[in-house]
Amino acid sequence: MEGKLKDGFIADLKSRCSITQIASKYLELTKRGRTFWARCPFHYEKTPSFSIDEYEGYYHCFGCGESGDVISFIKKMEGLSFMEAIEYLSKMVGMEVQFESQADMATIAKQNKQKKQVLKALYDVKELYKQQLYEKTAIKAQQYIKDRKMNKTSLDNFEIGYSPNFKFIYNKLKTLGYEDETLLNAGIISESKGSYYDAIAERLVFPIYNTYGEVIGFSGRILDSTLDVAKYKNTRQTIVFDKSKAIFGLKQVVDAKRVQRFDYLILAEGQIDVIMLHQFGFRNAVATQGTALTEQHASILKKVCDTIYVCYDGDSAGQKATYRALDILQNANLKVRIINIPNGQDPDEFLKKFGAEEFQKLIDNAEEVLDYKLRTLAQNSNMSSNESRLEFLKKAIELIKNLPTLAEADVYVAPIAKYANVANNVVRESLVNSMSSLNTKKTKVVDSSINEQNFRDAYQKADKIILASLLHKKPYIIDNDNLSFVNTNYQRLYTLMKSKKENGVEFKISDLYDIFNFEEDKDIAELVNYKFLNDEDKDKLEYLNSLNVNKIRSLEIEIKDLETLYKNATDLSKKTELLNKIGNLSKELAQIKFTF
Ligand code: CTP
Ligand code: MN
Repeated sequence: MEGKLKDGFIADLKSRCSITQIASKYLELTKRGRTFWARCPFHYEKTPSFSIDEYEGYYHCFGCGESGDVISFIKKMEGLSFMEAIEYLSKMVGMEVQFESQADMATIAKQNKQKKQVLKALYDVKELYKQQLYEKTAIKAQQYIKDRKMNKTSLDNFEIGYSPNFKFIYNKLKTLGYEDETLLNAGIISESKGSYYDAIAERLVFPIYNTYGEVIGFSGRILDSTLDVAKYKNTRQTIVFDKSKAIFGLKQVVDAKRVQRFDYLILAEGQIDVIMLHQFGFRNAVATQGTALTEQHASILKKVCDTIYVCYDGDSAGQKATYRALDILQNANLKVRIINIPNGQDPDEFLKKFGAEEFQKLIDNAEEVLDYKLRTLAQNSNMSSNESRLEFLKKAIELIKNLPTLAEADVYVAPIAKYANVANNVVRESLVNSMSSLNTKKTKVVDSSINEQNFRDAYQKADKIILASLLHKKPYIIDNDNLSFVNTNYQRLYTLMKSKKENGVEFKISDLYDIFNFEEDKDIAELVNYKFLNDEDKDKLEYLNSLNVNKIRSLEIEIKDLETLYKNATDLSKKTELLNKIGNLSKELAQIKFTF
């Protein structure tokens, strides 16, 4: 959705939506003080830790950390996109959605209509395929399901279906009144020599969902592996289906997450692996859909869980894919481990042969990334040749030399030595050499930056306390219009608060969700979720101290700038003037530091 909403429309809409009133349609609310409490709809819990502040217009869950305004609440509860949520709420309070331009209004209306038709068609197709699986004509498919030991719960949970032939869906949907254009847009049919046929035919069909739980496409598996056609056929790229974002099993994981807590997700390679993992009780399994893992997949996964156990096939292709996935996942700041399945099997085969308990053991033995990399590196090296043994040592050291300390790297010395069948000291020596060549410089930098970091942390903490107090309108905050912040998000927030105040408009926490992206702007999310000491006197003292810390930093920066000017100035009277200024500020600084 590209259209730009009219300036101020969102604020207007939000001011007319009561977040508690809307939330009360979904949740049982209890009022305590000025806050409403409920059991969190976004994670499983027995006692309420989901709080709503009606006045500030936002919610926050102390259990899972979710927070948002009325728009994000409706998005999540109804599985809507941002624009759809805007529409939904506008309708609810009887407002007309206002766009910047008429053209935008028209394009968006058209896109919306197209998307809605496509989603409706895909939904209907899913239902029809599902029914087909239980028809007499589906004997082969039913037999296939038996052979692969998928049970009824799995069939239901994954809404598995069957596409009997190349005409079934097209004919059926035409009788339901669908236009060819919609079916083409949805990727349900294909065209050949002027006639249309079902894009996926004579296959077992697995629906693929988006993060809102809507069907966006299908993956179809052939029943007869001796046929010379692709084993899987996926829906082509459409306005709703993008395989670089699609994650098989995510819908089922999110459903399960409401009743069960997951500390990690299992990332498998194939969809039948995912189905069998769920069937055997591992309801946290997902897979990418017909493509290698992308950064977009990683960022979607991160919203569900911060730890991923990669469980790709144990063959060499699987190993290659694992290496790639590890990098992508680690770059997205996810915690990662690797589940190793013996003898090149995939999860599906392993589960059927050995069962859930044995698979759980594989999970318990999941490897850390470095252990995995060293082990596979060793396995792929021919240790009987001196040359490749040295090559192995070099690569192994390469993997560990960037660890922050020698102590951490030293942990890997013994295993590396063992792989290469050399004495520990041989490895240690070359590790120390390669670390010191890069670290004599690096250690120094690290040392001074530790100090700097401490200072920065202290300043950052003070700024956090000041802004959190302002945001949560603590009674002890004092009028202070000339603070400044180094963190650009903080400065942006402060400037906004100030300008609202100057215009006589109150700043509400719900305003933040219009300006910041809470997934990315963690510093702002922290302010909303800031935990005060809940002792008015202590909180006040912290606040006042923080003002001083902020002031000290501002003065220090100002003095430094003046000093630079002083050094570069050539004019004598200018130099005197600067010197005076520096003197005054230094006095002020000393005074604050003294009283502080
Ligand atoms: N895949 C695909 N197109 C293909 C082959 C595979 O989209 N022509 C995708 C499917 O999602 C499949 C996954 O890649 O689940 C892994 O492929 P593979 O390991 O070959 O299949 P398995 O999952 O083992 O499939 P099965 O057990 O059904 O043989
Ligand atoms: Mn398989």
